[in-house]
Parts: sequence; C-alpha cells; structure tokens
Amino acid sequence: MTSRAQPTSPSLLFVCLGNICRSPLAEAAFRRAADEAGLAAIADSAGTGDWHVGKAPDPRARAEALRRGIDISAYRARQVSPQDFHRFTHILALDRQNLADLRAIAPTGAPAELSLLLDHVAGMEGQPVADPYFGDETGFAETWEQVERAAAALVRKLAG
Ligand code: 4NP
Repeated sequence: MTSRAQPTSPSLLFVCLGNICRSPLAEAAFRRAADEAGLAAIADSAGTGDWHVGKAPDPRARAEALRRGIDISAYRARQVSPQDFHRFTHILALDRQNLADLRAIAPTGAPAELSLLLDHVAGMEGQPVADPYFGDETGFAETWEQVERAAAALVRKLAG
C-alpha cells in the first residue's frame, strides 16, 4: 500500500534491486511488527531497477511470507523515484549497492532519512540482507530472519 506521509506517523520505504524478493519481505515483516506493537506507520517497498515493475513478488518470497502467516501476493513491484524522498520519513536500503543507488538519486534537502536496513540491528551494522534471488529456497528463510530482526528494531526505535 502506498500512502502520503502523515506528519504524525512514520512512513518507511524498503528498497532492494528488483522489489520482488527482499524488500517485499521487509515491508511485510515491518507491517506485522508495527501492527503488533500498535504503532501507526505507513510502509511500502520499491526497487532501484525497473525490470519487474508491476509484477507480484517472486513465488519463493510469497511462499516464505505464507510460511510466516502473511499473504503478500497482492504486492506489486515499483521503481523508487526521487519524489519518494519527499513522501517518506525513512528509506531503508537492503544492501550497500541499493544504498549507493539511492544516494545518487536523492534530491538535495529532501527530508527522508536514508540508511542501510541492518544498521538498525545491534551487531549487524554494515551488513547486507542476503539476496536470495539466485539461490534456493533456504535463502528466503535467511532473508526473512534478517528483515524480521530489522523490523523489530525499527519498531522499537520508532515507538520509543
Ligand atoms: P530483490 O531480488 O532485489 O531482492 O527483489 C532480485 C530480483 C531480481 C533480480 C535480482 C535480485 N534480477 O536480477 O532480476
């Protein structure tokens, strides 16, 4: 779901390369963590690339989310844009290349706080979320575990 940022609620955009594997899982994990904490927040995800625009998440990502009890089949991939830096309070890059690509398009003076997702997890600073696209299904479980830890850490920070 995409929505304009409200002054009172944080709005988070999770960004990977294709927006079909890692960032949809990060969005789903964050939505659930925020719901469980009673945190009013807006969440969305996007890709730096445009190859998969309009597509549903990768079937392996959908299956991983379903194993965790979340249906992400209605999510649709989109490409990040410079306007997103005005619409979101926080933009979270899943890996360092995503972070560099986001820095390259960030408009000067735009309010969104840009960071690497796992920098929010104590002990995982500087690490990328594992990219499971070219691997097997076990990679998606690892990705989920990482984004779930990040979601919990973000909710603690934003709620605190
Ligand atoms: P994501 O995974 O960035 O986590 O959505 C990928 C999706 C597509 C490609 C690479 C990674 N690709 O090369 O098309």
